[in-house]
Amino acid sequence: MRLAIAGKGGTGKTTIAGTLARVLARSAAPRQVLAIDADTNPNLASVLGIAPQQAQAIVGLPRSLMERRTREDGTTHVVFGADPESVLREYGAIGPDAVRLMVMGKVGHGGAG
Ligand SMILES: Nc1ncnc2c1ncn2[C@@H]1O[C@H](COP(=O)(O)OP(=O)(O)O)[C@@H](O)[C@H]1O
Ligand SMILES: [Mg+2]
Repeated sequence: MRLAIAGKGGTGKTTIAGTLARVLARSAAPRQVLAIDADTNPNLASVLGIAPQQAQAIVGLPRSLMERRTREDGTTHVVFGADPESVLREYGAIGPDAVRLMVMGKVGHGGAG
C-alpha cells in the first residue's frame, strides 16, 4: 500500500501522515512502514517520535541517487537507480514504533531551496 498526503500548509498533513504510519506499524497485524518526508521544511520525524538530536542528524537524500536517462525517441526521464535497502541503511532513521523514515527535499541552507 502506498499513501501520499499532500495539501495546503498547516492543515494537518504531517500529523495525519505520522499518526497513520505509527498506527499501521504497531497494529495487531503490523506492517513494515517506510515514511518519506518530502517537505522542504521537514518535521515528520517529531510526529514519528524520533528524538530531536537524532532528527537533526538525518541526512536528506542526495540528487545523485537519481539518474537521468534518455529514451530512444530522445525524451528524458529520471529514475531512482539505487538499491533501496542500501539507501535506507545509509540515509534512513527509525522511530520507536519501528517506522523507518527518509527525508528528501531538505533545504541545505538559506537561499538553496
Ligand atoms: N485535528 C487537529 N486538530 C487540531 N489541531 C491539529 C489537528 N491536526 C494538526 N493540528 C495542529 O495543526 C498544526 C499544523 O499541523 P501539521 O500536521 O504540521 O500540518 P501540515 O503538515 O499540513 O503543515 C500543528 O500545530 C498540529 O499540532
Ligand atoms: Mg507538515
